[in-house]
Amino acid sequence: MSGSIKLVTEIPGPNSRALVARRAAAVSAGAAYLTELGVASAQGAVVTDVDGNQLLDFAGGIGVLAAGHCPPEVVSAIHTQVDQLIHMCAIVATYEPMVALAEALNRITPGTFAKKTLLMNSGAEAVESAVKISRAATGRSGILVFEGGYHGRTNLTLSMTSKYGLFKKGFGPFASEIYRIPFPNVLRRPPGMNPEQFVGWSIERLRDAMIAQVDPSGLAAIVIEPVQGEGGFVPAPGPYLQAIRSLCDEHGIVMVADEVQAGFGRTGRMFSIEHAGVVPDLVVMAKSMGSGLPVAAVTGRADLMDAPHPGGLGGTYSGNPLACVAALATIAQIDTPEFLARATEVGHRLRAGLETIAARHPWIADVRGLGPMLAMELVTDERLTPDPTRTLAITQATLARGLITIRAGLYSNCVRFLPPLVVSDAEIDEALAVLGAAVDEVAAAGVAAPTG
Ligand SMILES: Cc1ncc(COP(=O)(O)O)c(C=O)c1O
Repeated sequence: MSGSIKLVTEIPGPNSRALVARRAAAVSAGAAYLTELGVASAQGAVVTDVDGNQLLDFAGGIGVLAAGHCPPEVVSAIHTQVDQLIHMCAIVATYEPMVALAEALNRITPGTFAKKTLLMNSGAEAVESAVKISRAATGRSGILVFEGGYHGRTNLTLSMTSKYGLFKKGFGPFASEIYRIPFPNVLRRPPGMNPEQFVGWSIERLRDAMIAQVDPSGLAAIVIEPVQGEGGFVPAPGPYLQAIRSLCDEHGIVMVADEVQAGFGRTGRMFSIEHAGVVPDLVVMAKSMGSGLPVAAVTGRADLMDAPHPGGLGGTYSGNPLACVAALATIAQIDTPEFLARATEVGHRLRAGLETIAARHPWIADVRGLGPMLAMELVTDERLTPDPTRTLAITQATLARGLITIRAGLYSNCVRFLPPLVVSDAEIDEALAVLGAAVDEVAAAGVAAPTG
């Protein structure tokens, strides 16, 4: 059967290995790489490596490629813009694509109130700006975040990020006034509690934190990923997000939805928080917004967005013209009923396939996510002891067969799937066949599970 995957060498091939060796010699080891793949070009969901192999990409640039690799409309918009204006600096002067992007984001984000936008270059910068805006608007400093949360690698966002060993070790001291409570992860609820009871119990813990950890009058913002990304694609239950909304309304706290990974169609809606019917005060966006060009944004209530003093926000490259036209072309593609309906279909097909694989292996404890933002979680036993060893082995086995997958999860025991949402049914089926074979192979090899 001819599919998208075409392998002409082993993976990684000799040219990939040579390129990665040069990388290892020239690039900081702190900027790690998950595969030994050297890539030459990509289109849609297919990547061509430097040995001429074609692979299916289910890592999607870690959630950047909802509209696919090199979407033609985005490529064409960049080509046109590059001849006209590459950089001006929005601090120096105003150019149309920047204003048009702000207007578009004000239009597509949840909420009918007056909105304004700040453009930045990365998710971390945008999250950090959302905190600055919340503090300026409220005159308070406290920020509430969640275990398993990931918000970036600058000092402030690293302070907000969880998973100490991988992201934070050796980099302190961290910023103060960050408060962290458990995320309502239904899979890991206390024994004897059903999911509904657990959500109610988690809401009580949230309210308790307002006594035990910080007074609400000291909280500037609650920052939550409606679906945790790095944390393992864990959706926050709708009633929990509604409880945060009520708490914020009661106490004048800014509700910030970090949609950096889950936004832009990734869950079958433009923004993942729409599934819960909750309207946050500020939305933070990046990743799939620019189809790969570095662009990020904070959009929200105009009165909050205008709170910082002029000059307090922004940066040299913020709102770069090339990034803005890429984002405008990406939004034109994603913000359509057809694209979002197809994303939902991708999710159904992928989930059904993952559930079939999981049914063969009791150590796949969960297939979860929202729409096409899906992951499977691996454990060693009924106590749900995480199994990062088999998880890594599965991602390596899929890569050897031409399917790029990556891990996630507080315990690195989830395989997450972030395919370009322009992936075809045939490509989904091909990826599922490869994944199934890889999982079966790892099961048959009896890869040693860690103890305890
Ligand atoms: C939810 C979330 N917030 C923030 C970030 C940081 O974004 P960036 O890597 O662009 O700084 C990420 C990156 O993975 C993310 O997933």
